[in-house]
Amino acid sequence: MLFPLLRPALFALDAEQAHGLTITLLARFPRTAPKSAAILRTTIAGLDFANPLGLAAGVDKNGEAIDGFFGLGFGSVEIGTLTPLPQAGNPRPRLFRLVEDKAVINRMGFNNGGIHAALPRAAAARRRGVLGINVGANKDAPDRIADYAHGVAAAAPIADYITVNISSPNTPGLRDLQHGRELTDLLAAADEARRIGKTPRLFLKVAPDLDPSAIDAIARAAIEHHVDALIVSNTTISRPDLRSANAGETGGLSGAPLAPLARQRLRDFRTATGSAMPLISAGGIDSADEAYARIRAGASLVQLYSALVFHGPGLAQRILRGLVDALQRDGFASVTAAVGADG
Ligand SMILES: Cc1cc2nc3c(=O)[nH]c(=O)nc-3n(C[C@H](O)[C@H](O)[C@H](O)COP(=O)(O)O)c2cc1C
Repeated sequence: MLFPLLRPALFALDAEQAHGLTITLLARFPRTAPKSAAILRTTIAGLDFANPLGLAAGVDKNGEAIDGFFGLGFGSVEIGTLTPLPQAGNPRPRLFRLVEDKAVINRMGFNNGGIHAALPRAAAARRRGVLGINVGANKDAPDRIADYAHGVAAAAPIADYITVNISSPNTPGLRDLQHGRELTDLLAAADEARRIGKTPRLFLKVAPDLDPSAIDAIARAAIEHHVDALIVSNTTISRPDLRSANAGETGGLSGAPLAPLARQRLRDFRTATGSAMPLISAGGIDSADEAYARIRAGASLVQLYSALVFHGPGLAQRILRGLVDALQRDGFASVTAAVGADG
């Protein structure tokens, strides 16, 4: 309720400062997680989610406000991307609001305090929902696959699921891991590294900038290497028509202009996986209608980031209320029943 009043003050700050302030406030004053309606409960890859709305990676990279985000209503919170060693990321400014386009461009470059600093915070959090830990490679890693294996093994005792993120456009060469031998070697290493005692689920996060043959190859490799779900997608390096002054900045674009591409990639991966694997849709989700449309198009879960910048922290609860209404209106007994209803 306060967000419309605070928004001008937050938007007067540099985007990264405003983000830091939000994390600090949520970390200091976490609310008790609201109870989700029973109709929103869903199970994916053996994990029980109170609702299908997740916080996408990159918002709480260091796991500083996990309970704060659960308190906003999210059924899952994905922290990271975390790399084995702390790293500063790219020089500032590196995060840009595109207000007229309801979009964001970022070239953060995996700035984070390192996985070993974040894990104790994740272990100590009350975690009123599913916790994902998103892992990546350090920019200067001599062996990137070894960095992923390191992150997966370190996160395995604590995470409910681990996301292997090979789709950030801001670490040069990282997205090459989405192809060929590098992809299969990486997935084999990640699958082996997670099998320590309690085996967390393994998710793979892909870019939206992929051609049809790459989509088929990723789907095949993911199924073969026991990936439990695909997150479709990360930010795009493409530039649809944009109006804002910051449109020319280098980096990954997210928010409303990403929605058409993210919808298309969801359909593409559904075809490529033959519905054999749960899909998590991210990219431009900013309303209950959009979340519901992704679910009907085949998403088992949805995630968001950029819409929080423009619509504020109350958005999660608004989306959840709208989802309940839509499911009841269309006669679905559960969110699971609506997954892929549009064929
Ligand atoms: C500032 C910013 C930082 C991000 N950092 C990460 C990250 O560290 N790891 C990751 O997997 N995705 C990251 N993302 C991508 C988001 O998780 C999400 O996939 C993408 O922004 C599309 O969703 P949206 O349109 O709702 O923002 C980041 C996005 C933004 C805007």
